[in-house]
Amino acid sequence: MSRNHWKPNKEANVSVYQQIFIYMKNKIISGEWPDGFRIPSQRKLADEFEVNRSTIVTVLEELKSYGFIEARKGSGTLVNYNEDSDFSLRTINWNSLIQSSIYESNNRVVQDINDLELKDQFIQLGKGELSPSLFPKSTMSQVLSSISNQINYLGYEEAKGFRPLRKAIAQHLREYGIKVSENSVLITSGSLQGLQLISLGLLKTGSTVFLGEPSYLFSLKMFQSAGISLYGIDMDEHGLNLSDIPFSKKYENRSALYCIPSFHNPTGITMPSSRRKEVLKVSAQYNLFVIEDDVYRDLWIDTPPPQPLKAMEETNNVLYVGSLSKSLSPGLRIGWIVANEQVIDRLADIKSQTDYGTSSISQLIAYEWLKDNLYKDHLKAVRRELKFKREVMISSLHQHLNSLATWNIPHGGLFIWIKIEVNISIQRLYLDMLSEGILINPGYIYGKRYQDYIRLSFSYASESEINHSIAILGKKIRFLSKLA
Ligand SMILES: Cc1ncc(COP(=O)(O)O)c(C=O)c1O
Repeated sequence: MSRNHWKPNKEANVSVYQQIFIYMKNKIISGEWPDGFRIPSQRKLADEFEVNRSTIVTVLEELKSYGFIEARKGSGTLVNYNEDSDFSLRTINWNSLIQSSIYESNNRVVQDINDLELKDQFIQLGKGELSPSLFPKSTMSQVLSSISNQINYLGYEEAKGFRPLRKAIAQHLREYGIKVSENSVLITSGSLQGLQLISLGLLKTGSTVFLGEPSYLFSLKMFQSAGISLYGIDMDEHGLNLSDIPFSKKYENRSALYCIPSFHNPTGITMPSSRRKEVLKVSAQYNLFVIEDDVYRDLWIDTPPPQPLKAMEETNNVLYVGSLSKSLSPGLRIGWIVANEQVIDRLADIKSQTDYGTSSISQLIAYEWLKDNLYKDHLKAVRRELKFKREVMISSLHQHLNSLATWNIPHGGLFIWIKIEVNISIQRLYLDMLSEGILINPGYIYGKRYQDYIRLSFSYASESEINHSIAILGKKIRFLSKLA
């Protein structure tokens, strides 16, 4: 490259990367760097422009994606442009666009599990859903025929969602001790969207979310994609170990505390009232708002869990997230956020800019389930079945994994969190189980520290599938531990 003194202006409004891109593109189009011209090395360009090498890598990727340059084996990176170049034949470099876009890709293992969970040929021993045998088919078809008679028009809903459904949810929440009007309820497309709206509407790049580790949230990239850090804190048998939160000025603003106080995913732990009170105290003391994810509450087996934090607070520091996914049907995509009206209005505005509201049909269906006793009656059947399935899994674990692993008996929810006590590779166990047609969730997707754990679900597989799979699990662990 001829010696020149051009350098990007670091004070300019246009990013340094954009300036270099435009500069190099002009060199090519003007013919100063003709077809076949060898682009200087990344290091040389970085020195020349006084920027990081990573900036140069991004610029070169972008020039490649437009087809201005190409890498040729043995010759380096060459200009690939002349006035007659036929751009209509050039393909977009999708790979480069995908790699450098805002939203992070999910962990490869999580992507695989999501795919494999849809395949009938696998026994689903990790899946966080009720089994199809618990799908209330006949009541659902009555509900569907009833709503088909009510629909005269399907328009956009109010930004916060179908008002009668919000009222029915507010009424349902009263039974937990949460006293709010429908104006404090926002209907979301599953609780997952609720979490995303919170990240977009109340947090910002550089914010920190504290959460117990392991956690379901570590199996997603939602917060990280918005530039928000997840900060894992220890858990004990009562949930979040609050003394593990590193309180400092740095975190005082714009931080939040996320928790799953009832039947935590993946550990199954339920926080007693005393710990819930401590969470509220810490939240007020350190100016952390609380995201209470309570999607498993209705799945209690032995006794109902303690009141939600949202019901216990005297402040307005808790955002409460719920859903029908775990207790009725995830395909409905009906969830909710409960908070003070100012926050709900803010999140409703973002929701409406994102999708103009959750499907009206799903909202009508959910309303039919909640308005009378259909949902409550359904839950009774769910609890009976979960209790039975939990016993099946626990006794099978005793039979086949007794000296190999330890676990706690959850009082509700869907999961048993199992610590493998012998020295084996969980990744290998996951793959070996797959080759037997059985899908389990390795613990490390919920936190890197959890290399010795697996999460099993007692809700989805049938009794015989559970017994068969746990027997194989025991054999595989034994086999691998002899190898180790
Ligand atoms: C703790 C927790 N929160 C939220 C969700 C998301 O559920 P949905 O968006 O279907 O309501 C899940 C799903 O597994 C979960 O385990």
